[in-house]
Amino acid sequence: MTYTIPRYPVHLIDVVRLVDGSRITIRPTLPQDLELQREFFRSLSTEGRYRRFMAPLNELPEAVAQRFITIDYRSHLALLAEVFEDGREIMIGEARYVVDEHDPATCEFALAVADDWQACGIGRALLARLEREAAASGIRRMVADTLYDNKAMRALAVASGYAVTANRKDARLVKLEKQVSAWRAAPRKVQQAAAEITMRHSLS
Ligand SMILES: CC(C)(COP(=O)(O)OP(=O)(O)OC[C@H]1O[C@@H](n2cnc3c(N)ncnc32)[C@H](O)[C@@H]1OP(=O)(O)O)[C@@H](O)C(=O)NCCC(=O)NCCS
Repeated sequence: MTYTIPRYPVHLIDVVRLVDGSRITIRPTLPQDLELQREFFRSLSTEGRYRRFMAPLNELPEAVAQRFITIDYRSHLALLAEVFEDGREIMIGEARYVVDEHDPATCEFALAVADDWQACGIGRALLARLEREAAASGIRRMVADTLYDNKAMRALAVASGYAVTANRKDARLVKLEKQVSAWRAAPRKVQQAAAEITMRHSLS
């Protein structure tokens, strides 16, 4: 089936080599990724789910699943990381931001990486791409709440230049905040390479 996605940001499609030499694909989420999103959620450990959603969830609520694939790539951008096993797509990470409706210069972000793929650099790669795109879209401030005891997220945030401060309304949480600045547009060659990857991807 062929889908027409208005404004699909092909320049965000990328193949990333991890420290162990394996390659993963990062790409903007598509409306047809609903089942991938559900499978990814199920693949997360109970702790991973709790850290991502800050609630004890067994299944991805349908309303959230629908929201996750209803993306305009401007006010709501979502990237997913995936690998291919026996020709099948397996989602191994996701990152998204939603622009604050009262303050278009600020967005709130969240991300998660499948347990078996953590500590390989995927979280860092996803967050860096979100930041780059946010900055290029005119966003100036990235914020997130995370659990106070979420060592991995706090460490990733600090390593990525975020300030970590107490959340005055909820002692379980800390606030992550970073100013982002405009990024140079990717050279045309890189954009072309990305478009070619999309083609290959859509044929597989
Ligand atoms: C937080 C999370 C996204 C990090 O993703 P990741 O792919 O494992 O992180 P990376 O491998 O890119 O690590 C980047 C940096 O973060 C830090 N870090 C990541 N995991 C860490 C851990 N368990 N302990 C300490 N530091 C850690 C390190 O500084 C690391 O850099 P280094 O590898 O050069 O030392 C992942 O642990 C996760 O999905 N957790 C569950 C969901 C969640 O907590 N989401 C956050 C909601 S906002």
